[in-house]
Amino acid sequence: MKTKKVKRSKVITTLVVIIAFAVAGGLYWRNNNLEIVKDEPKPVNATTSTPTESPQPAFNKAKYSLTDPNSFWVVVNKRRPLPAGFEPADLVPPGVPTRLSAGAPEMQVRTLPAYAMKKMFDAAQSQASLKLMLVSGYRSEGVQRSLYASYVAQKGQAAADLDSARAGFSEHQTGLAFDVGATSGKCQVDPCFGALPEGQWIAANSYKYGFVVRYLPGKQAVTGYIAEPWHLRYVGEELATEVYRSGLTLEEFFGLPAAPDYQ
Ligand code: DAL
Ligand code: ZN
Repeated sequence: MKTKKVKRSKVITTLVVIIAFAVAGGLYWRNNNLEIVKDEPKPVNATTSTPTESPQPAFNKAKYSLTDPNSFWVVVNKRRPLPAGFEPADLVPPGVPTRLSAGAPEMQVRTLPAYAMKKMFDAAQSQASLKLMLVSGYRSEGVQRSLYASYVAQKGQAAADLDSARAGFSEHQTGLAFDVGATSGKCQVDPCFGALPEGQWIAANSYKYGFVVRYLPGKQAVTGYIAEPWHLRYVGEELATEVYRSGLTLEEFFGLPAAPDYQ
């Protein structure tokens, strides 16, 4: 009788141990499998997934220097003067119609803008029968000083400062900027140029050749100048296209401080 009892209790103990192991094993399996399900990548649903397009890389605004006077991206304004006496090294005549004799320093610009200017003038002629002219290109610090002084003598300093840079502060001194006009001479360096077919073609097409219209209407508080639809600045096609599409000034595009006046 006693042996039977002992046997029964052994059987019960064994059963309890087996059940305990089974329950513990079941819980362990469940937990691990839930983890696996959690970590599994979501299945790709072919009907709702977006096409695998390579994303467009963001425009790199730090690609070139904004301060080196030799950089095509240099930003020059009333708060950002050029180094004293700066002269670009690769000035050339662009081989286009010019206001002054072709050999005059003011009828030259740097090599890349010269090439781009010629291409643009040829396109204006072939696409729209418009005849463009180089009115003023590179201006040394000395030439800019005389020009500014002549404006001050004509209309006073406050008015001169709205459309002429002081010596050392002009984009013309970089060899990257130039004033464009119609060969007819109509509206030369005058706001009415913007309304001429030549001015309208320049506004719509110059970015394709790497130029920005630097002084836009309504941006005097940023650039410090009234609108100059004739003043083009070479920055290269990549940046010119971005800036044209943005509708911004170079200062705004690059997040630089406004330059309404001299400090
Ligand atoms: N007319 C532009 C601002 C210059 O003198 O550089
Ligand atoms: Zn100009």
